Amino acid sequence: MNASKWIRQIHRWLSVIFVLAVIANFAVLGRGDIALWIGFSTLIPLALLLFTGIYMFVLPYANRWRSARRAVQ
Ligand code: HEM
Repeated sequence: MNASKWIRQIHRWLSVIFVLAVIANFAVLGRGDIALWIGFSTLIPLALLLFTGIYMFVLPYANRWRSARRAVQ
């Protein structure tokens, strides 16, 4: 499996972790608690989703730039 496929897999599984963390957040809020750590536990997968997501977003453009450069050379 190449690097971009790994990134896609990581993004997919991070999205599952993120959704579970959001559900846990609501469950804790529903009990009337405000727990800061559970809030941060959603932000960590979200931040990782942002990086892996931006990587996947840029990938097709980067491939196009690279093949255009190769055509010029
Ligand atoms: C935080 C910023 C995020 C960015 C910039 C981002 C960006 C992307 C990009 C560019 C793709 C690839 C789309 C394609 O196939 O061309 C993707 C796929 C996907 N994203 Fe995100 N995403 C973000 C957050 C999330 C979140 C919060 C979730 C769900 C909780 C999520 C779930 C998914 C899933 C399930 C896929 C499909 C993965 C696969 O094909 O296996 N993403 N995302």
